[in-house]
Amino acid sequence: MEQMKGRSLLTWLDFNANEIRSFLELAKTVKAQSRRGELTQRFTGKTIALLFEKRSTRTRCAFETAFGEEGGHPVFLSNQDIQLGAKESLEDTARVLGRMFSAIQFRGFKHSAAETLARYSGVPVYNGLTDDFHPTQALADLMTLEESFGDRGKKKLCYIGDGRNNVARSLLVICAKMGVDCTVIAPESLTPDRALVEKCTALSVASGAKLRFTNNLDEVEGADALYTDVWTSMGEEAKKDEREKLLRPYQVNQALMDKTGRKDTIFLHCLPAVKGEEVTADVIDGPQSRAWDQAENRKHTIKAIMLATL
Ligand code: CP
Repeated sequence: MEQMKGRSLLTWLDFNANEIRSFLELAKTVKAQSRRGELTQRFTGKTIALLFEKRSTRTRCAFETAFGEEGGHPVFLSNQDIQLGAKESLEDTARVLGRMFSAIQFRGFKHSAAETLARYSGVPVYNGLTDDFHPTQALADLMTLEESFGDRGKKKLCYIGDGRNNVARSLLVICAKMGVDCTVIAPESLTPDRALVEKCTALSVASGAKLRFTNNLDEVEGADALYTDVWTSMGEEAKKDEREKLLRPYQVNQALMDKTGRKDTIFLHCLPAVKGEEVTADVIDGPQSRAWDQAENRKHTIKAIMLATL
């Protein structure tokens, strides 16, 4: 873990498979410690700035509770509270925060803002979601998949819906790195962008992951997990009607779950969900859903990331 100290997590593109594996193993240890009720104070004397340009339930609560219960001091700062590129350059904000905090979490719009914070603060920066990537989510997703199917052997995950969003893009990267077969089922206009597809296809050669991009829902056959996300991401509200029309055929309902041909296929969702749109209530609230474990795993994985890098 020593080689992790001081590193930022902006995208899993910056980490190799062994490093991602070590984060996952640490997250499993952290979860087991939590289940046993062990109290540890591994962030005593440390501080983290939690910068939020967008709303959050899981990410904010995961960072805040994971850091605080280990004796650290998290400070929540929305863009109503501090200068985030308004009245003061982001570079200067980063320099100041880096003098006062041990680490920074950033949730916002531009991925370049997370990169700027990492470049100028001198402390680890964690991407809590940008328009491009949501890496802490993807680690929790992989942990949840492994809790159901183990960490060995081939696994197939199908992501269905808006294949261009930050969740789909992060899943694609982590699957390509970790050898998980990933099929993105999306209308052509919402297929992941070419540059990322090329990067992930190159990565998949080493890991053995099969990556597929299609609009054919029959491709869910044999899948271990079906995964979806909201049809309209934060910041895209103007596209709501258009997305609903385009993605209605891609709703994850029981008929689609059954189409996998397996009774043990699990359902995953990063949440928040719009029940009745991208997923039906009977699926997300039903026995095949692991969405609530997945939400809990955000905390364990985020704690592991901070433990390894701080
Ligand atoms: N999945 C996720 O990032 O949830 P929040 O938007 O509530 O943080």
